[in-house]
Amino acid sequence: MEETVYRISNKKKMKIALVADLHNVSGRSALRSMEKNNPDLIAVAGDLIAGHTPKEAGHKVESQQFVLPFLRGCAAIAPTYVSIGNHEWMLTDDELGLFASAGAAVLDNTWTEREGVVIGGLSSALRNICSFERDGSGVLYPKLSDLRNHDKIMTSSEWLSEFEQQQGYKILLCHHPEYWCLRDPFLISRRIDLVLSGHAHGGQFRFLGQGAYAPGQGWFPQFTSGVHNGPNGKLIISRGLSNPARPIPRIFNRTEVVYIIV
Ligand SMILES: [Fe+2]
Repeated sequence: MEETVYRISNKKKMKIALVADLHNVSGRSALRSMEKNNPDLIAVAGDLIAGHTPKEAGHKVESQQFVLPFLRGCAAIAPTYVSIGNHEWMLTDDELGLFASAGAAVLDNTWTEREGVVIGGLSSALRNICSFERDGSGVLYPKLSDLRNHDKIMTSSEWLSEFEQQQGYKILLCHHPEYWCLRDPFLISRRIDLVLSGHAHGGQFRFLGQGAYAPGQGWFPQFTSGVHNGPNGKLIISRGLSNPARPIPRIFNRTEVVYIIV
């Protein structure tokens, strides 16, 4: 696992740790890194969960052995904020309550404020899936057509206009980097200082600094890693903490914790 540091201001006021895509791996090395680096704030930009469907209906979070211990570990280090990735579309309020009782603030299309910093969480559009099918045991699954076409589902982004108008440094956790400028809600044009993403897993294979494939962006994706500048702020993408595409290996693409000095 790599520790990547981006210094985007010379006057250090805050060190942010960005982690994403745990996908229910242990995250022990990420926790060790954050203990050592002592961030002021931890941003968990979605996809703590592995799997897409609530196989143990109603107990999805509890059945994932590493998710809550990881969040408890984060919360013991610094104030921790979680946004909703595409693998969390099915979580109930009770399950999100488990994240909260592990010590993390859950930002499901909402924001909060801490010491002059405004921190929001834009949930994956998959959260808005509205059609389901039941399997033989009565467990709900999203319709396959919805999962395949989820790039056509709208995000719940109405609240961003009010978020943008808040005073203070504005950070938005948004699992999907493609929401920056490739599709709704086009975050690049909004007055947000920092958008923090994951999801692309570094593009799975990396050659000459370019990822090969990312969900939601296809082959040779534009947004898989690093810092991307917009007119009003920056997008920073974590390559993630796991390899959800197993058995396909990550090549020249180490997992990472990103530290941002603001
Ligand atoms: Fe994802």
